[in-house]
Amino acid sequence: MKTIAKAKAHGKIILVGEHSVVFGGPAIAIPIRTRSVNVTVELSDEASTLHTDIFTGRLENIPNSLTGVHTLIKHLIQTLSLQSKNFKVIITSDIPMNRGMGSSAAVSVAIIRAFYELVELKITPLLLREHAFISESIHHNSPSGLDVETVIGNSPIFFIRDEVLRHFDVKTKAFLVIGDTGITGSTSEAVVHFKSELKKIGYQAKLDRLKVIASNSYDSLINNRVEVLGGLMNEAHEILREFGVSNYKLDDFVKVALANGALGAKLTGSGMGGCMIALCRNKSDAENVSQSLKLAGATEVVVTRLEDSNE
Ligand code: MEV
Repeated sequence: MKTIAKAKAHGKIILVGEHSVVFGGPAIAIPIRTRSVNVTVELSDEASTLHTDIFTGRLENIPNSLTGVHTLIKHLIQTLSLQSKNFKVIITSDIPMNRGMGSSAAVSVAIIRAFYELVELKITPLLLREHAFISESIHHNSPSGLDVETVIGNSPIFFIRDEVLRHFDVKTKAFLVIGDTGITGSTSEAVVHFKSELKKIGYQAKLDRLKVIASNSYDSLINNRVEVLGGLMNEAHEILREFGVSNYKLDDFVKVALANGALGAKLTGSGMGGCMIALCRNKSDAENVSQSLKLAGATEVVVTRLEDSNE
């Protein structure tokens, strides 16, 4: 067993299929390798402590907002028979929290990798998924597994819950612009809200349309039909807005991005805050959109070439 171990995990963006993926629809997600979580786990002679931007202190005093992290650490300590040891767990991250960029999944995956590194055990993707499920189910009780899968992998994925996990490479010169509203969204709240909306007349048909949009988006993406993909993203945003998981700022960012040359734009992740993504034909369009989002109040803007998400 080592005395100190370090591990990391990158962020992610859902291109299309959020929410409908919980109900068995397809989804496309891409890794964002320029954003990551780093975790250090160190043996300690004193009581076990956690060190993060939002909390530093003893494990037993962890606030409710970090219950997932706490539960996961306790679970790992038990699974790896480490009850007699104490740890200093340090988490640093440049993935904004609760903004649809996969921070919670990345924190979970990096913690699991660091503990396994500490005890010098190899971790399989299957075990990673199983452990990550422990903390992810605290964010909402029926996670599709999409976030964890994208954070574990190193290339874009086409995903259908419990059925399909296909890694693929994108072949397009298109760019994505990610605009952060700075507003935190709660995944569990958004998922519960989406589900309750399904009881309304006509909303099952909207959910079915979201599933078709995601499937058609995959075809458009692999065939580099970016105009078609942009149109599908716009339609997905409109339906997600009708479900009430957008907000005024996400809607505003979508309008700003489209008015400044984006081919399509939508919220990404669970919504009710978080980030908007805009698809742009090339780098100069992406830079225009990026500038306009900053002027519209984006707290952060990330510009990424879609091909950079390939392995
Ligand atoms: C959250 O990033 C994505 C959702 O589809 C929930 C899930 O897939 O579990 C909203």
